[in-house]
Amino acid sequence: MAKKRATTLPDVTDRRIDSLLTLLAENPTIVISGAKIAKEIGVSRQAVWRWIQTLRDLGVHVKGHPRTGYHIERIPDILLPQLLSHRLYGTPFARRIFHYFKADSTNTIAMRLGAEGESHGALVIAEEQTAGRGRGGRSWISEKSTGITFSILLRPQIPPAYAPMLTLVAGLAARDAAAEDLDAVPDIRWPNDLLVGGKKFCGILTEMHAEPDRVGYAVVGIGMNVNQSKIPAELSDIATSLRIETGKTHSRMDLLFRLLRHLDRYYNQFLTEGAAPIVRRFSEVSSYYEGKRVRITTSTEAFTGTTSGLEPSGVLRVARDDGRGVEVILSGDVGEIA
Ligand code: BTN
Repeated sequence: MAKKRATTLPDVTDRRIDSLLTLLAENPTIVISGAKIAKEIGVSRQAVWRWIQTLRDLGVHVKGHPRTGYHIERIPDILLPQLLSHRLYGTPFARRIFHYFKADSTNTIAMRLGAEGESHGALVIAEEQTAGRGRGGRSWISEKSTGITFSILLRPQIPPAYAPMLTLVAGLAARDAAAEDLDAVPDIRWPNDLLVGGKKFCGILTEMHAEPDRVGYAVVGIGMNVNQSKIPAELSDIATSLRIETGKTHSRMDLLFRLLRHLDRYYNQFLTEGAAPIVRRFSEVSSYYEGKRVRITTSTEAFTGTTSGLEPSGVLRVARDDGRGVEVILSGDVGEIA
């Protein structure tokens, strides 16, 4: 889907793999001849055979062989651009989708796209990340095709001081999308952690390139643990996945689609009505909004206090225990005090 670039951006998933898989996925259980596939995706029959092997190498169970034709018994939950693009029609995310089976970090790629002038709404998806980044220089683990790992490029006409609102907008969208798949009500720990049962299942990393008075472009990256059946031992006390919480697997495609629809809605609401309705919604769904006993760790200090709402720009207010008044937290880690 991406046009050819003069730069060193990694190659996206071949459009023909996308077409082949989309064709098979749209006709599950039907055996499609090699000749028909070749015609539909515009390659030779020998090439179809090679692409089928590639799909098998990627873990897709394609049945059949050149003489009988091919079919898949189970639609693989791969976040294919063509399928996604149809479903996202009417949103800015349908137009430019960059899909990778393996990428270093979708945020890194989206930031580079931003620097190259790629348009608003570009969506970068990876089935697996090898160098996923989290907040505060931490890393983010994204195993192959188990979670949702993507970044969007936005070009909002807002001052940099309002950029934290983008994280809130994304957090609300991810929260609403996940809530439909959960029995328990998810919580948002300001600014960007989605929790269920006190454990994190989704994180957001917002990065931007800004002039003093306006945001040039911003990248919002979201990582959601969806179908992981196990969390690494060192994280299992603090992290979880939708599958662990519900005991069932979830469609990553449906979740991502819902998330992006919600994101489009909240983002437009923010641009047209301002921060107030977003902050109000945050106050309804986050137990961290007000009255939460917290420990704050910033780059310069750590202190305890009680949350007391958000500023209109989306930053957190905390009444300090040490009597030094209400602190405005621009960035930092927020931990609940039991
Ligand atoms: C955090 O909770 O610290 C933020 C985690 C953000 C992870 C996502 S996964 C997609 C995007 N690409 C990255 O390298 N990071 C974000």
